[in-house]
Amino acid sequence: MIEEAAKLIAHSRFLIAFTGAGISAESGIPTFRDRGGLWENYRVEEVATPEAFKRNPRLVWEFYKMRMKRMKEAKPNKAHLALAELEKMGLLKAVITQNIDNLHREAGNKNVVELHGNIYRVKCTSCAYRENLLDSGRLEEFLEEEGLPKCPECGSLLRPDVVWFGEPLPQEALQKAFKLAERADVCLVIGTSGQVFPAAYVPYIVKENGGYVIEINIKESGITPIADIFLKGPAGEVMETLLAKVKRCLKDKGC
Ligand code: OAD
Ligand code: ZN
Repeated sequence: MIEEAAKLIAHSRFLIAFTGAGISAESGIPTFRDRGGLWENYRVEEVATPEAFKRNPRLVWEFYKMRMKRMKEAKPNKAHLALAELEKMGLLKAVITQNIDNLHREAGNKNVVELHGNIYRVKCTSCAYRENLLDSGRLEEFLEEEGLPKCPECGSLLRPDVVWFGEPLPQEALQKAFKLAERADVCLVIGTSGQVFPAAYVPYIVKENGGYVIEINIKESGITPIADIFLKGPAGEVMETLLAKVKRCLKDKGC
């Protein structure tokens, strides 16, 4: 199976990747729906909805600052690095991710579409103010601040620039993702349960347009029924082997 997957990738014209929390599990970031996952320990409706933020912004900010701290410590793993290398080789055209952890960019991928926002970005609840705390160099200071974070322009409450349940996805990112999916002839789906829409439409769009879906996951997911190839195992390990086989295939004539 992995040989077949390597062959498809090596001969692909427009390869994309669609990733979820499972790709960052080996970097030490908990997923949502696995055992010990975030949604087992927190109630979504108390920490990740606009209503929760209105009711108790302190609790929501505590949750997101905790996640910021965790993600700040995390490093890209072999799966992120393999995707960065596939992009450098000219094979991978884009990564579409549901993750907010920034690890695809840290690994070196340039064309990253973030469907659910980014943990390091904040935005004002009243005006158009937005800030990327990594770019502004304010992350440490921000994490140490005791009170609720306020907008430097208008003094209103700042919120994480992430998508909460019940909120629409950033339209530009979603349109871009769907267009990429329409063009893709091969899509690597890595570490997602495929249960959250509209993000999870991506592999379906690839299939509808005649593309192949290669899935990597430690267990079957909502996407598995439409996957042409299912590679069972941890993302880092599988991607490392797959990349080595793609390189061999490109060298070998007749692969
Ligand atoms: P989930 O927690 O729903 O699914 C994680 C997937 O990763 C599962 O299918 C696991 O089997 C798989 N997995 C775990 N460890 C793995 C490993 N080492 N290698 C490969 N696969 C592994 O996470 P997502 O599918 O990303 O949305 O969840 C989608 C969305 O739901 C998230 O973006 C988030 C969440 O609520 C928002 O916050 C808007
Ligand atoms: Zn403001």
